Formats: sequence, structure tokens, C-alpha cells
Amino acid sequence: MPLPAGMILEPVQGEGGVIPAPDAWLRRMRAITADRSIPLIADEVQTGVGRTGRFWAVEHSGVVPDVMVLSKAIGGSLPLAVVVYRDDLDVWQPGAHAGTFRGNQLAMAAGTATLAYVREHRLAERAQTLGARMLDQLRSLATEFPCVGEVRGRGLMIGVELVRAEEDREAVSPGSGDFASLDTAGAGPRPAAPELAAAVQRECLRRGLIVELGGRHASVVRLLPR
Ligand SMILES: Cc1ncc(COP(=O)(O)O)c(C=O)c1O
Repeated sequence: MPLPAGMILEPVQGEGGVIPAPDAWLRRMRAITADRSIPLIADEVQTGVGRTGRFWAVEHSGVVPDVMVLSKAIGGSLPLAVVVYRDDLDVWQPGAHAGTFRGNQLAMAAGTATLAYVREHRLAERAQTLGARMLDQLRSLATEFPCVGEVRGRGLMIGVELVRAEEDREAVSPGSGDFASLDTAGAGPRPAAPELAAAVQRECLRRGLIVELGGRHASVVRLLPR
């Protein structure tokens, strides 16, 4: 049987609802792929360039992938997407990987400047500090408001899961898939509250803050710095 061409994963699932990969799981994936010579591809499109509190999110787990795919923050607001890979995976001849918008000079310059700026100003460390503070405060909201379910994330990549009130628990059958993804207070998962998440998103926008929704039921309010 042919081996898979690669294994791709996000160190913190973004659209999936801000779910950080457990460090031990990520290390295990690294070991499994290394043993079989399968390239491990880290999708750091959302997690890269300091947002999670380390320059690359894989650093949290001490894992070195063979390939990284980057986009979004790396362009410093200009459209730029980059694939970084080990030398020995570079089998293209110079000029073979051509395309209309490849190697845009202005975006490349912006990307280089962005990487230097983030490093020089230690923005990853800052994301770590601010993120820890935000997680603390958001988690304290969870103890105050039953509609706040799990609060999770790394650095400033944070997700706040909104759930329906305790009394709604019986209204949803356990097999329906309507539950928020993870247990919160040890009492079992509560039903997801996508309407409430949409209301929070609208109110944030009204106050000048753009937040995304994610997760299987679009019930996770996602915070991610530009
Ligand atoms: C985690 C992740 N990977 C890949 C992509 C695709 O990136 P691009 O739009 O640069 O092709 C996205 C886009 O939203 C993303 O969020």
C-alpha cells in the first residue's frame, strides 16, 4: 500500500472552534510520521507569527514539522501565502512552480518586514502575557454566567464557547450532535448556543470589534489579533 503523501494538522484548530492540539498528541503525530517517512505538515495559517504566544504554535509542543503553510498574519495585511519545507523535499526545478501571482515582490517585502517587526518587538511574548490575562478574565466570566461554556486557546488565539442554560440540557438528546464540543464544569456538555454567539458577534461589531464564529455549531466566539 502506498504511504500517504503527507499528514496535515493545525496546532490549534481555528475554524474548528479554537481547539489546541494536546502537546502529547502532537508529539505522537510527529513520531508516527517520522517513523514512516511521511512529511508532517503544520498548517500555521491562523496560528503563525506570534498569535499563540510562540512565534510558531508547534513550538509549544517542541515539535519540528517538515512543512509549514503560512498565510494571513505573515503578509502584514498584504496578500501573501507561503509554503516552507525542508531542503530535501524541494524537488521542483527553478521556475517550474510558476503562477500568475507567485512571488509578489511588494507582499514579499511586507512579509519580511512583518517577521522582523514581530521578532524585534517580541510580540509573541506579549501575546502570551495578554492571552493569559484574557483567558483568566474570560474564565471568571464563565463562573458568573452559565451561558459561557468552555474558554480555551493559546496566547491571543482564544475561543469562548456559548452554551444554552442548564435547564435546556434535557431538551437536546445526547445523540443529536447539538452539544457544545467539550465538557465545562464536569457536569457533562451543554447544548451549543449559536443564536447567542451570533448576537454577541453583532454586538461586538456594533462596538467596533470584529470577531469570528467557529466550531461545529458556530457557537464559539473567536478572538484572533490582526
Ligand atoms: C487554517 C487555515 N488553513 C488554510 C487556509 C487557506 O489559506 P489561504 O486563504 O491563504 O489559501 C485558511 C484560510 O482561512 C485557514 O484558516
